[in-house]
Amino acid sequence: MGYDALFRLDGRRAVVIGAGSGIGREAALAMAAHGASVVCADLDLASAKKTAAGCGGTARLLDVLDAEAVREVADEEPADVLVFTAATNVRKRLLDYSGEEFDRVVRLNLRASFDMVRAFGAGMVARGRGSIIGFASIRASVTEPGQSVYSATKAGLVQLLRTAAAEFGPHGVRVNAIAPGVVETPLTQQIKDHPDWYAAYATKSALGRWAAAEEMAGAVVYLASDAASFVTGSVLYVDGGWTAVDGRFDPPN
Ligand SMILES: NC(=O)c1ccc[n+]([C@@H]2O[C@H](COP(=O)([O-])OP(=O)(O)OC[C@H]3O[C@@H](n4cnc5c(N)ncnc54)[C@H](O)[C@@H]3O)[C@@H](O)[C@H]2O)c1
Repeated sequence: MGYDALFRLDGRRAVVIGAGSGIGREAALAMAAHGASVVCADLDLASAKKTAAGCGGTARLLDVLDAEAVREVADEEPADVLVFTAATNVRKRLLDYSGEEFDRVVRLNLRASFDMVRAFGAGMVARGRGSIIGFASIRASVTEPGQSVYSATKAGLVQLLRTAAAEFGPHGVRVNAIAPGVVETPLTQQIKDHPDWYAAYATKSALGRWAAAEEMAGAVVYLASDAASFVTGSVLYVDGGWTAVDGRFDPPN
């Protein structure tokens, strides 16, 4: 292989679910820039169309809570690469959480992931190739008050993806997770609206700042491409060093 083409995605079809916003949008733009034809799917069709227009791709309306609709898109858009980002968080203490809120977070973050991995994984296994990339979080391994259900779903997603890697690997399909640190997107607007909270998160990472959504794009292109041909079942932390550093105290020299 010529190393100049190591990260190229020419001739591959990538489906990005959650392509209308934040990390999903940047994943779609970056994969298209590396030669992929990209299908931009989102619950918000207008924003998916905007991303598609920016990367020469096509847009599709998709609600991942509808398992039948997920299967339809997987059948109609046979993917070499699947990236899925749709998720939600209800930041509340355990004692304040309602059962309805628990169900809402689990349905989107975990149940829909299960449906997407199965629907797209089936076609990839049948064709003998593919790369599935799901978005976990630093919350899959470290947590804080108010993150109980989100953390549980992200830890669950990691194990779901690792098991998919084990089951699909013999068929040439790779499955990996990306675990971002804190990234400025609509998902984290609630934190940005509180200056103390925002600043505390910035200082927690080794780099001393938040990430921009486009800083997740390199990890997506890498895992989608042949540069990662022997990478499966892994969790790639793109967290500015958040999980490497305890950070509770800076000892004097
Ligand atoms: N932003 C962060 O700081 C951060 C940190 C760690 C992990 N993550 C993870 O990264 C992923 C992407 O996060 P983001 O910040 O880009 O989020 P975002 O809210 O900016 O984008 C999510 C997209 O998913 C779409 N979506 C929501 N529900 C849907 C549904 N039912 N069907 C189809 N599409 C739906 C939304 O319309 C939106 O376009 C998520 O899994 C999130 O948990 C984000």
